[in-house]
Amino acid sequence: MRLRDKTVLLTGASGGIGAALAQELAAAGARLLLQGRDRTRLNRLLAGLPEPGQHSIVVADLLRTEQRPALLQAVQKAGGLDVLINNAGTSHFAWLEDQAQEQISEQLALNLTAPILLTRELLPWLRRPGLVMNIGSAFGGIGYPGYSVYCAGKFGLRGFSEALGRELADSRIKVLYFAPRATRTTLNSSRVYDLNQALGNHTDSPELVAAQAMMALQKEQRQRWLGWPEWLLVRVNALFPGLLDRGLAKQTAVIARYAEHHCDKEAKS
Ligand SMILES: NC(=O)c1ccc[n+]([C@@H]2O[C@H](COP(=O)([O-])OP(=O)(O)OC[C@H]3O[C@@H](n4cnc5c(N)ncnc54)[C@H](OP(=O)(O)O)[C@@H]3O)[C@@H](O)[C@H]2O)c1
Repeated sequence: MRLRDKTVLLTGASGGIGAALAQELAAAGARLLLQGRDRTRLNRLLAGLPEPGQHSIVVADLLRTEQRPALLQAVQKAGGLDVLINNAGTSHFAWLEDQAQEQISEQLALNLTAPILLTRELLPWLRRPGLVMNIGSAFGGIGYPGYSVYCAGKFGLRGFSEALGRELADSRIKVLYFAPRATRTTLNSSRVYDLNQALGNHTDSPELVAAQAMMALQKEQRQRWLGWPEWLLVRVNALFPGLLDRGLAKQTAVIARYAEHHCDKEAKS
């Protein structure tokens, strides 16, 4: 899709990947509705975009039912939508037994339920042709120790994207799943960066991820996995999960050392 003069709603616009993507979209001439929870951060982002007057901000917590209508109202005010990008997300790197019920519920609510509900609410306002891009993760294709809840959300989001895309096959609305690998943003704690360094896993910049997301939008790529080893591993995992079981089993002790709480317990014992 050509993005010039298209209306795009971007959730999580104030975050690392969101802010970089907002810059790319604005540079391509799109009109942006930028969602986040922090008005100050959103206004700072807006002021740094080319032609800030073309765009607007929507302050809303996606986990607060009473705040979600603000998004629908912004879309109605804009007269409709061409692209919805479900990007807001959260992650908690910890062994399942060490996660509080609220942490589990919040991750699933923000990473899975919120994009499903928002998409349902905004579908009637999505023009044809239209795009929904769901920001997934490499962990939506590979179950990874320390990320069981995050993986549940991102695998779920991938299933949602695939099924909805097929449901809407005759409607000229396409549903895309875009899966970054580790990216340098505040989503990840220092433990995650230390783990990735210890394992030699690559970390991308949000600017690189945003540029790739733009290409995926422009080419309307149904699924896009960033990073060569991750792309391959997702496929190998789908066909021969036992191979990844064996590979990851060799790393699990190292991963456990970095996971939140697990290492605290070890230190105490
Ligand atoms: N960073 C990575 O390593 C990585 C890798 C693969 C996939 N991803 C995915 O990429 C997407 C963006 O991640 P990121 O790294 O840019 O994260 P980030 O820098 O932490 O930004 C998260 C964004 O989500 C918003 N948000 C958080 N909780 C919210 C809530 N309850 N209601 C509304 N908005 C909320 C934040 O808004 P506030 O400013 O209000 O907090 C912020 O704009 C996520 O879906 C993530 O799962 C990230």
